[in-house]
Amino acid sequence: MSLDKLMASIEKQGWFVWDDFLSAEQVTALRQCLPSEWKQAKIGRRDDTHQDVRRRTDKIHWMHPNMGSPVQDYLERMKAIQNMMNQRFFMGLFEYESHFAKYENGDFYEKHYDSFKGSSNRRLTTVFYLNEEWQPSHGGVLNLYNQEEQQISQVEPHAGRLVVFLSEEFPHEVCVSHQLRYSIAGWFRINGVKDGVVDIAH
Ligand code: OGA
Ligand code: MN
Repeated sequence: MSLDKLMASIEKQGWFVWDDFLSAEQVTALRQCLPSEWKQAKIGRRDDTHQDVRRRTDKIHWMHPNMGSPVQDYLERMKAIQNMMNQRFFMGLFEYESHFAKYENGDFYEKHYDSFKGSSNRRLTTVFYLNEEWQPSHGGVLNLYNQEEQQISQVEPHAGRLVVFLSEEFPHEVCVSHQLRYSIAGWFRINGVKDGVVDIAH
């Protein structure tokens, strides 16, 4: 079962690519929940951000259960992963935040970490893809690197594919996309204290 494969792979190497995480029908249903309004993506966490279109040019829309039952189903699947990670690895994952992302022709996201040790409470990243019939000539691959900056994987954004990795350990980049490219990026966070205020799950 793939949930077991995910756990084994995270334990062994810290990342995993799960093909057919969702069926073509489920992807179609999720695509119907894509928003009509998008905002320029920012660098940094939700409440500590700045726009920097030199580093990323994609547009995003934060996910919320009220966007439809396919979104609710997706969030429930993420909850199952969260619970499993906590049971197996005592990761203390507390909350999941996620957004749809849209890369239009020419868009990219330069190499970055999603989280830096000690300065963020993001621990585990997920990226899910919604692109039927993606071709190599469309670009838009996700390159994963290790901390020695060696490339360890090159992931095409095929529909139904879920990528999971430890947020603090894998720099990654989205190469220029030549085709409209949709993904759902999400982060499991541990409960943290920021400016003396304890995070509240919402
Ligand atoms: C991100 C990110 C990867 C992708 O949003 O932080 O790295 O393939 N996205 O969309
Ligand atoms: Mn990222």
